[in-house]
Parts: sequence; structure tokens; C-alpha cells
Amino acid sequence: MAIIDQPLRESAATRAASAPESADPRIVAWVERLALHATPDEVVWCDGSQPERARLIRDMVDTGTIVPLDSERRPGSYLARSNPDDVARVESRTFICSEKEEDAGPTNNWVPPAAMRETLHGLFRGAMRGRTMYVVPFAMGPVGGALTRYGVEVTDSPYVVVSMGTMTRMGAEALAQIGPDTEWVKCAHTVGAPLSPGEADVAWPCSTTKYISHFPESREVWSYGSAYGGNAILAKKAFALRIASAIGQDEGWLAAHMLLLKVTNPRGRVFHVAAAFPSACGKTNFAMLQPTIPGWTVETLGDDIAWIAPGPDGRLRAINPEAGFFGVAPGTGRSTNPVAMDTLEHDVVFTNVALTDDGDVWWEGVTDEPPTHLIDWTGQDWTPDADRPAAHPNSRFTVSAAQCPTISDDWDDPAGVTLDAIIFGGRRATNVPLVSEARSWEHGVFMGATLASERTAAAEGTVGELRRDPFAMLPFCGVHMADHWRLWLEVGAKAEAAGGAPAIFQVNWFRKGADGKFLWPGFGENIHALAWMLDRIEGRAEGVDSPFGRVPAAGEIDYAAADVSDAQWAALFGLDQAALTAEADDAARFLDSYGAKVPDEVREQLAVMREAIDEL
Ligand code: PEP
Ligand code: NA
Ligand code: MN
Repeated sequence: MAIIDQPLRESAATRAASAPESADPRIVAWVERLALHATPDEVVWCDGSQPERARLIRDMVDTGTIVPLDSERRPGSYLARSNPDDVARVESRTFICSEKEEDAGPTNNWVPPAAMRETLHGLFRGAMRGRTMYVVPFAMGPVGGALTRYGVEVTDSPYVVVSMGTMTRMGAEALAQIGPDTEWVKCAHTVGAPLSPGEADVAWPCSTTKYISHFPESREVWSYGSAYGGNAILAKKAFALRIASAIGQDEGWLAAHMLLLKVTNPRGRVFHVAAAFPSACGKTNFAMLQPTIPGWTVETLGDDIAWIAPGPDGRLRAINPEAGFFGVAPGTGRSTNPVAMDTLEHDVVFTNVALTDDGDVWWEGVTDEPPTHLIDWTGQDWTPDADRPAAHPNSRFTVSAAQCPTISDDWDDPAGVTLDAIIFGGRRATNVPLVSEARSWEHGVFMGATLASERTAAAEGTVGELRRDPFAMLPFCGVHMADHWRLWLEVGAKAEAAGGAPAIFQVNWFRKGADGKFLWPGFGENIHALAWMLDRIEGRAEGVDSPFGRVPAAGEIDYAAADVSDAQWAALFGLDQAALTAEADDAARFLDSYGAKVPDEVREQLAVMREAIDEL
């Protein structure tokens, strides 16, 4: 490999001088070392200001990275088209480089840290040649907040800088919070596409070589070769889930792949709820739910990540550490998620959706009928008779949470919100009832640990085959998955001792009848299940026992109001002993595959479930 070693000592001094006064010397030193090694043409410390964002956007329009949308139809908005090989997270190139392999566990790719450092050292040498290195300080959570953490991402991608500006509290205020005793997460990112002198750039630089590497002990992320969200916006999945799950392990708090919402019932009582669903199970839709029962209000706090920690009173508090939504566009429309559609009216960066002839965006599901002509996500002409989608199935929107019309007034409360309920959900055609309440915190942890979702026809694998996705964290857990379950048990036990842990529930919006049709209408009607859960917390509903915990008793949910028949309702809670025995057997094999670290409490809950199934 050609090694480029052109940096001059003098230019390093110039770079250090360009750092803001308030920058912690450790950050300055780290940035200086990285600059000497990656040899960018220039180092820019980002302040997070509007003029800075405007400048970055202008530069990206000039280089063709983004296209401005029609300023009447979609004010302040842009479309980015990625390299067709850089469209999604690359789990096969995502690594947890813990000192010990057993700390990464069976669900992660592990490489010894020293070996990975050597690889990355080679790759980062000269990697930013011809580009600008941006230094992006950021806060995860409200600046100065009780649960807030800080990080610095160094990147040579202006698209990543602008995305970080939307997804985090980015800039000078965050930098000023990092003092000599503040732990901060180092996030180093390059697209891995150095430019020779005079070489023209491409619209979406990236590399065919990709590494998304995490060092949980030293709180570092090193990302090479991709500019796609989950691989490059390192505050999000890399820090707020993978590194945070390791920090939480050391400090006794939980990084969760969960939406966060606030519900007010007709009596004015307020509840805060966190919910984990694997991909393609409607997390963003649930976070923006529009209740069909009069008198109930749902407000949004977050759609993807929650940090949950004991508060001063010992009860669990939660924050959404992010400041924006990086959501999947296809399937989002007026009928499925009107709140998201309102959120996306202005100041959005879209990635890999289609462009209309009048300068707006389009994706599958946004209207029933596609326009007669589009430019597809690859930049080609597209008409409805094309046998390929116009928008990439993983096309995204990046938008500020503050402009969501249902954003809760406490979403950026520095103290976080007290958590009343936690929900686990998956896509299950059979077995799992519409809603059930865990018998105990341990039972709730069992629900999370054995969470599963069925593969759809669109995904790889056999249709209907169960994919276990514990806590919806399979791609995002930076520690041994069973250690993560142990932590959930410990955090819950402490909260219970201090005056009450949140109640835990399981939901399934996707159960099907014998005719193969969904039994439950979903979307806004999900308020019926949510209202029952909160009625349980308030002591207004009794429920009855089942192998899945407490389920609604007769008369506790007015399902007729959701246009669900008595027969459909019965089928939503149907118990088939043979199928449930097979389900328990599958869960047992799954737990065994995680080895000796599986907590006894989790195995005991499986035994309790088996007993209840045997008694049917
Ligand atoms: C991502 O890919 O960046 C991302 C947010 O992942 P997901 O939507 O699958 O959670
Ligand atoms: Na993805
Ligand atoms: Mn997610």
C-alpha cells in the first residue's frame, strides 16, 4: 500500500492554534495526532451555528452531494443520492474490539483491539488527503443534563457534519461542557477516499473497504469507508447504543433501542413509556401515534434510542439522547403516519428517495399512485412500469425532532422523564397475544431477552421463520448480550427496592387469523392496548392470567370501537398448546446458544411459562 506521509510539524501547530479557546487540551491533542496521520488539507472546528450549516450545505450543492428541492414545495430541504454500494448499515463489517472476546459475546464480530488498531492505523494514514477534516463536538442529551454524555466526531464528510447537526446538540456549547474530568467518546470517521492533487471529487465518496470498529473499554469508535447514517453518524448507533451499553454496564444504567413517548389519559394523568421493537415493526409510527379514543393524547419524545438510569429518587428516568429522527421513508404516508408527514414538510435532508419532475421527493407508500415520471434513487429516469422501486427500500429522512408537531414539551428536560412502562413488541403471526403484562420485572426481562420477529417476504430467509432479536439490540449491543440482560435485572431490582420499577408489557400488532389476514387494525387503534396497560398501572383494570402474564379481562378493552369482532378478539389471545410448547422449546435452544452467562432468573421464567403451557 502506498503510504502518504506528507504532514509538516509546522502545519500541526497551525491546526492546534485553530482550535477554540474552550477546547479541552486532550481533544486538541487527539485532533492534532489524527490530522498528522490522516493528512487532510484543512482542519475545521465546527461551532454548530446556522451560518456554518448554510456554508456546508452550499459546498455540498456545489460538489453535487445534495440537490436542493423546490423551495415552495419543500422549503430548506435537500436530496442526497449515495453510492449504490453505500446504502445501509454493514453488520458484517461492524466490530466490537473488547479486550476479551467473551465481553463481545456470541452476537458480535470480535477482533482483538491491538490487531484492529494496526489495521485502522494503516487505513487512516493519508485517508483524508485532499479533504477537509471537520471536528464535531456533540452532546447526547440536553447540554448540561443529568444523563447527558459528550463526544467528538472527526470526519471528512460534510454530509456527516450536517447530519450530526440535526441528530445531536452539536457545536460550541457541547465543546464547552467537556472539561478536564469529563469523559468523552472519541469518534473518528473517514469516507476512505483520499484525493490526489487536482483529482476531481465524486458526489458520494466512499470505499469498498469498510470497518465500523468499536473499542468499548477506551470508549472509541473508528469508522472507515462509508458515509451512510448508521455507519458514519457515529453519535447514533455506534455511541448511543454500542459504546453506551458498555458505559452503562460500568455505571449501572441502560442503553436501549427504544422509542419514548408521553401519554395523557382522560383524567389528566401523565405517563412516560419506552418501547423496543425490531426493524419494520412500526417504532416511528408508535412514537407518533394519533389515538382514536377521545380524551387520550400521545406526545413524542424519541423514535429510536432511550437511555434509562436511576434518578435521584431511585426511580428510573429516561432521555432520548438524540435531537433528530433518521427514519425510513418507504411506507411513511398520510394514512400510516400523518405526524411524520407534517414533520417532513420543511428543512429535511432526504437520502436515496426519488425526485419528482417538480423538484419534490417521492417514495413507495407516500401516495397510492406513483407519479408518471421520476428520477429514481440512482439518478435514472423511472416510470411506474419499471420493475424496481423508485426509492431505495432503506431510503431515509434526517429531520430535527423539534419540528415534529407532537414533540413533547419535556423531550429535552435536562432531568429526563420518570418511566412508568416499558413495552417489547415483535411481528408475530401466531402465539403472542395482542397485549400482556409481565408478572414481574424478571418476567419482563425474559420478554425482552426472547423477543422475536418473523421474517417478511422481503427479507432473506424463510418467510415466517423466527428471528430472535433480544431487546431489539442484536446489531447494537456493545457487550455480551447475556451481560446486558444481567444489567437489566440489576437495574430493575434496584429501582424496585427504591420505590418502584416501571411495569413491563409485551405487544403484538401483527397476529393473523386462519385467513392469513391481520386480526388487529394497528396504528391509531393501538391506543386501546396502550390505554389498558396504563389502566393496569392506575389499578383500573384487573386482567387475567395467561402463559404470557396478565392479559385483558372481558370488558376491559372496547375492541368493537376498533372494528374488531368477538371472533377476531378471541383469536388475538388464542392459546394453542402444541404451538406454545414448540415456542418454549425454541426459546430454550435460543437461551442455550448464549451459554453460561444467561442469568438463572431468565431461565426460571421459561420454566414458569412451560408450567402454564402444560396446564392449558
Ligand atoms: C441506521 O441504519 O442508521 C439506523 C438508524 O438503523 P435502524 O433504522 O435499522 O435502527
Ligand atoms: Na439500516
Ligand atoms: Mn433503530
